[in-house]
Amino acid sequence: MKILIATEKPFAPAAVTQIREIFGEAGYEVAVLEKYGAKEDLLAAVKDVQGLIVRSDKIDAAVLAAAPELKIVVRAGAGYDNIDLAAATERGVVVMNTPGQNSNAVAELALGMMVYMARNLFNGKPGTELKGKTLGIQAYGHVGREVARIARGFAMETLAFDPFVSKTDIINDGTKPVDSVEELYEKSQYVSLHIPANEQTKGSVNFDLLSRMPQGATLVNTARKEVVDEESLLKMFREREDFRYVSDIAPDCAEEIAKEFPGRYFFTPKKMGAQTAEANINAGVAAARQIVKFLEKGDTTFQVNG
Ligand code: 3PG
Repeated sequence: MKILIATEKPFAPAAVTQIREIFGEAGYEVAVLEKYGAKEDLLAAVKDVQGLIVRSDKIDAAVLAAAPELKIVVRAGAGYDNIDLAAATERGVVVMNTPGQNSNAVAELALGMMVYMARNLFNGKPGTELKGKTLGIQAYGHVGREVARIARGFAMETLAFDPFVSKTDIINDGTKPVDSVEELYEKSQYVSLHIPANEQTKGSVNFDLLSRMPQGATLVNTARKEVVDEESLLKMFREREDFRYVSDIAPDCAEEIAKEFPGRYFFTPKKMGAQTAEANINAGVAAARQIVKFLEKGDTTFQVNG
């Protein structure tokens, strides 16, 4: 068996070492393709592999067509919007993610960006505190829960809206469930997004929702840039001087925001929520183990297609 680790944004070296060890024990060959600039490099690298580990790397129909022996792709992470699931299913390729493995890293970044913005980008001028503020968590999955846990350490009040999680589970976790997404925005000075990017959610964070936020509104996005409607974002910046936006990846309108609204935004230069040694090891090792279990025993736990 040959497995390719294809990560345009490389894992920490310790994660690659541990992944190699797992495949070494299974008697598999491992190839690593990192920081590849051209898609052709990826197309060439997949031609003789049976397994593939990726991060946000785009695995579309062309990549799958270039990999005739491929049996499994594991997205080392949570969101799998970068993989063409229908094309994979059509070719009989199993797709998995590794839920929860990088969630603490993402949650720490969300709170870190909140502190950074509350303290005026650490410019030395008087800022505000998180203590006593309300944090609305949109989607209470693995990351949402970690965000709530850390926010409670800051003495924030945590609210959550998630139609797929029972209210009892949210309450038992120490967070208050709300009845609608509108209510979440109405009651929260900070809203932290943890929804996946799909046909239902893309552009769903719009002016109607954002404008419901109380004064001192900060939107925190460690999910995907596509879930925020950018016209609405610009409108919020224009109409609400109190509005701030922190995001783990710049929106397409970043230049306009930088020019017109300095001091009211922060965007990471490259998606870095999951970019810690710990998260890389957790997600990478989980991905490697899942591949071995699937190829050796047919275990399809965490499969997301088919
Ligand atoms: C995820 O969906 O797991 C995160 O967005 C992390 O993505 P990354 O592996 O590209 O950093």
